[in-house]
Amino acid sequence: MAARIGIVTVSDRASRGEYEDRGGPAILACLREVLSCDWEPVSRVIPDEQHLIEMNLTELCDQEGCCLVVTTGGTGPARRDVTPEATEAVCDKLMPGFGELMRQVSLRSVPTAILSRQTAGIRGKSLIINLPGKPAAIRECLLAVFPAVPYCVDLIDGPFLTTNETVVKAFRPKTT
Ligand code: MTE
Repeated sequence: MAARIGIVTVSDRASRGEYEDRGGPAILACLREVLSCDWEPVSRVIPDEQHLIEMNLTELCDQEGCCLVVTTGGTGPARRDVTPEATEAVCDKLMPGFGELMRQVSLRSVPTAILSRQTAGIRGKSLIINLPGKPAAIRECLLAVFPAVPYCVDLIDGPFLTTNETVVKAFRPKTT
C-alpha cells in the first residue's frame, strides 16, 4: 500500500485565492525528488485559524492515515501565525530537534530564520513537521531534516520509507 503524506499550506491569502499557493507544490516537488517508495499526497490549503489547522492535522493523521504531514506557513511572530501552536496542541510528543536543525540551516541564508518558530511532533502514528511559508525555505528545510525522517516513521510504526540516495540518504541506526 502506498504511504500517504499530508501537505498543508497555511495561508489566509492562498486559501482565499488572492494568490496562487506556491508552498504546497514546492513540498510536493521536493518529496517527489526525495522519496523512492510508493506514496501519495493528500493536499490542503487552509487559512491561519488555529482550530482549522488543528482539525486538518487531526484528520490527516487519524482519518487519512498520513504517516507524515508537512505544513508550510504561519510559523512567524505575526498575530495570525499560529501553526506551531496548532501543531503542539494536536501532538502527543514534540520533536524540537527538527526546528532546531531547520533554523540552523536557514540561518546560513537569512538572518530572519530565527523568526520562524517551526517545530515538529508525533500524533499517534504520524510525524508532523512545520516549514516556513517562503517557498525558498521549503527545499532547504526539508532536505536538512529528511535523513532522520524514515527512521522516525519506523519508530512510530509507520510504513518503510525509502529515499533516492543521490538526493537524501536516509539514516537508520543498526539495531543488531
Ligand atoms: N527560512 C528559510 N530557509 N528561508 C527564509 O526565507 N524566512 C524567515 C523564516 N525562515 C525564511 C526562513 C522569515 S522572514 C520568517 S518571518 C519566518 O521564517 C516565518 O515565516 P512564516 O510565518 O511564513 O512561516
